[in-house]
Amino acid sequence: MATLSHCRWLITCAIVFPVLLARTNCIDIYHEWVVSLDSTIKPVSSPQPVITINGMFPGPLINATTNDFVHVNVFNDLDEPFLITWNGIQQRLNSWQDGVSGTNCPILPGTNWTYVFQTKDQIGTFTYFPSINFQKVAGGFGPIRVNNRVVISVPFGKPEAEFDLLIGDWFNVDYRVIRSSTQRKFPVYGAVPDVMLMNGNGPYGHPDSKTHESFTVTKGKTYRFRISNVGSFFSFNFRIQNHQMVLVETEGSYTNQVVLESLDVHVGQSYSVLVTADQDESDYYMVATPKLLNASDGSPLVAKGLLHYANSANTVSGPLPSGPDPYDIDFSVGQAKSIRWNLTTGAARPNPQGTFNITNITLSQTFILHGSITEIDGLPRFAVNNVSYLAPNTPLKLADEFVNGSGVYQLDVFPTQSINDAAACGASVVSGIHKGWLEIVLKNDLGIVDSWHLDGFGFYVVGFGEGDWTPESRASYNLFDPVVRSTVQVYPQRWTAVYVFLDNPGMWNLRSEHLKNWYLGQELYIRVNDPDPNPGKENPPPENVLLCGILEKSNAPSSSPVAQPSH
Ligand SMILES: *[C@@H]1O[C@H](CO)[C@@H](O)[C@H](O)[C@H]1NC(C)=O
Ligand SMILES: *[C@@H]1O[C@H](CO)[C@@H](O)[C@H](O)[C@H]1NC(C)=O
Ligand SMILES: *[C@@H]1O[C@H](CO)[C@@H](O)[C@H](O)[C@H]1NC(C)=O
Ligand SMILES: *[C@@H]1O[C@H](CO)[C@@H](O)[C@H](O)[C@H]1NC(C)=O
Ligand SMILES: *[C@@H]1O[C@H](CO)[C@@H](O)[C@H](O)[C@H]1NC(C)=O
Ligand SMILES: *[C@@H]1O[C@H](CO)[C@@H](O)[C@H](O)[C@H]1NC(C)=O
Ligand SMILES: *[C@@H]1O[C@H](CO)[C@@H](O)[C@H](O)[C@H]1NC(C)=O
Ligand SMILES: *[C@@H]1O[C@H](CO)[C@@H](O)[C@H](O)[C@H]1NC(C)=O
Repeated sequence: MATLSHCRWLITCAIVFPVLLARTNCIDIYHEWVVSLDSTIKPVSSPQPVITINGMFPGPLINATTNDFVHVNVFNDLDEPFLITWNGIQQRLNSWQDGVSGTNCPILPGTNWTYVFQTKDQIGTFTYFPSINFQKVAGGFGPIRVNNRVVISVPFGKPEAEFDLLIGDWFNVDYRVIRSSTQRKFPVYGAVPDVMLMNGNGPYGHPDSKTHESFTVTKGKTYRFRISNVGSFFSFNFRIQNHQMVLVETEGSYTNQVVLESLDVHVGQSYSVLVTADQDESDYYMVATPKLLNASDGSPLVAKGLLHYANSANTVSGPLPSGPDPYDIDFSVGQAKSIRWNLTTGAARPNPQGTFNITNITLSQTFILHGSITEIDGLPRFAVNNVSYLAPNTPLKLADEFVNGSGVYQLDVFPTQSINDAAACGASVVSGIHKGWLEIVLKNDLGIVDSWHLDGFGFYVVGFGEGDWTPESRASYNLFDPVVRSTVQVYPQRWTAVYVFLDNPGMWNLRSEHLKNWYLGQELYIRVNDPDPNPGKENPPPENVLLCGILEKSNAPSSSPVAQPSH
């Protein structure tokens, strides 16, 4: 349950915004979450364990406004360690709250830990989900909205209502069974998900569905749907029978508004669309069909919900709205290229997004990263440049803080521009130059649409291309109005290029959002170090920092500069 209270000025807002104190209205938002397993929910017929938050699946909404402070006290009632990450929340100067294995010790069973983070300089649609132990396939995810401050106008009229729409693939099997099968050479389970859910509900009309999702609308009104892909494997195409959608936002950027019949959403991505209820008062299908799969209309992998007009007398009828050929990559690339930044609108700040002009920037670094599947010691692993990430027991960020990184990882051993000639495991950490522009070229040697996410920053999505990337490929980049977002897709056998401005010191996770790829090593960390010794830069560790790994038995208070490692 969320409770709001006015900011304790002296403790939080005043420290961060002494100048803006008179004008800002930032508040502290408090959530207390109990994370537990529930076998009675049965999104589809099988009695599998689902990870719930306060009994809810999906979990509760975090409804914040730019610059609010969000406090989430997480009680882990599972029988195994747990961590949540806030996908797309940039954790400015504060990778301590990022909730991934490289920044935080897990919350042990039977204990609680309070995250405190600020939605600093952000607006938009995001999600949270478990980041370790393959738990995301069992639930534990939910929606995040970051609303504009009232002083900054939104580039469209206020909708009648907003709806969070979390769509994702789902397995009919206990997540622990899938998890252990990923470690085997011939997985029995977990190759392809079984069903596609909408806000935790099975497809409308499917015999295995107990419930279905339905949104009630009034004729003539316009609604904002915040659509996220919370699955682990499939990209999907979303559409609404007889209705068009106006794309307005993606992961914190207002886009040029384009009218769409259907929208591709890749794993980990979020979008806002406006839908006007301009049809006869009836019920209409909302569907999400998987990409790169021929799923028939009756397949459980076709998510189905209803757009229900308040005075509708009719049940839904007619064929499902047809979408693009799921194998038509060019359709998807064309749509991706048409999603552009609206340069004239303000977002978190009043100055227009187009003020951040990247036409002339000088690149400081280029990383060329191949995602691939490989085999190490006879077992399947995913890798970046043939290095498969293996999480050390001591989070990288804690190792940096308390023992100067020593013994936990070696900085800059990871090959950022070439491929290791033999697949290997490692704790990959590379230096990013503070306040430099980093170019990342993501290449996909897999047969799926991969999806990459960087914590701490937005990607300026400058290019999508076929075949080999060469420096000449830069001529095809869109440097005028690339959209800025946290998660970007990479098509099979193709590349995607992004720019990142490394103005946020910290230890930042770069990962595939495909759960199996991530779990089996397709990730690395970018360490952005601010050498400026002035105080007021990166935040110190929080007072409640958890210690583990080589730091476990030390009781180092956060004020002590170096903890003694235990042996
Ligand atoms: C979310 O917060 C905004 C701004 O405070 C408020 O207008 C809106 O009603 C809230 N929505 C929900 C679902 O709580
Ligand atoms: C655990 O919860 C208690 C009770 O709400 C709270 O006082 C305490 O600060 C929490 N512990 C941590 C480490 O956040
Ligand atoms: C998918 O279905 C279409 C239409 O039925 C068919 O033409 C195509 O060959 C199928 N593709 C695959 C890969 O099965
Ligand atoms: C961009 O935002 C402005 C508001 O600043 C709005 O008037 C305009 O319609 C938007 N442009 C597009 C193409 O969506
Ligand atoms: C960015 O700068 C370039 C030249 O430096 C200019 O041509 C372009 O119009 C600028 N873009 C915007 C959005 O102002
Ligand atoms: C971009 O670079 C060109 C050539 O170096 C220069 O003439 C122009 O003023 C620069 N534009 C901006 C916006 O910095
Ligand atoms: C920390 O390690 C770096 C290299 O990894 C070294 O340059 C630096 O001197 C070390 N600092 C301390 C305080 O030991
Ligand atoms: C990656 O590692 C595998 C297994 O060690 C090896 O067969 C392959 O050649 C490597 N890839 C490259 C491009 O060197």
